[in-house]
Amino acid sequence: MKLRRFITFEGPEACGKSTQIERLHQRLVERGQKVLLTREPGGTPLGESIRHLLKHAPEGAEATPEAQLLLFAASRAEIVRKVIRPFLLEGGWVLCDRFCDSTVVFQGGAAGLEERVVMQVNAVAMGDCLPGLTLLLDIPVEESLRRLTLRSRPQGERDHFDDQSKSYFEKVREGYLALAEKEHPRIQRLDGLHSVEEVEHHIWERVSHAFSIE
Ligand code: TMP
Repeated sequence: MKLRRFITFEGPEACGKSTQIERLHQRLVERGQKVLLTREPGGTPLGESIRHLLKHAPEGAEATPEAQLLLFAASRAEIVRKVIRPFLLEGGWVLCDRFCDSTVVFQGGAAGLEERVVMQVNAVAMGDCLPGLTLLLDIPVEESLRRLTLRSRPQGERDHFDDQSKSYFEKVREGYLALAEKEHPRIQRLDGLHSVEEVEHHIWERVSHAFSIE
């Protein structure tokens, strides 16, 4: 089954995903569409607990890449079956902040897990729920680090993923660019250095073209 109205947003830290998801959400709602906005990990009670564990709890700080892979997958298995799939089957649109491609890039390319293993675990977690379109907001590593510094969240609000090395962020960016080529046209790369309004416009061009909506 092809679940077409499922759009995921991907990109390195501080690439502008949250702002752009809100804007696309607004545009679709203005056109009378039923839209669910959600995120990964998270989006269900169990998923939000896993999110807290992975991002903030002390016991999540030293998780092995294998444990991370399985925890992200557990969160995905829940949200797919309890939230995303039912909503799509009712004719709604789902906009999700991160999904399967994050696992390929972060646990695969950046943390070094074997691609074959990551793909198998992803397949169990996702079932037939592959995104119809994935928008990759691409920014250089330096820009990502600059924006993270500007954000300068208080120590208590930082998460375990904020403190990775520059080389980790470089692997993340390279991973995304390689995946976008491999998975074209599902994954569409957008230049995240443009203004918020320009990126919003480019996203709408891609979405209206892919889903024939004016
Ligand atoms: P974010 O929601 O603030 O982007 O934080 C989620 C973090 O989790 C981010 O650093 C990327 C990471 N992540 C993975 O490593 N693998 C995954 O499968 C997902 C969904 C996220």
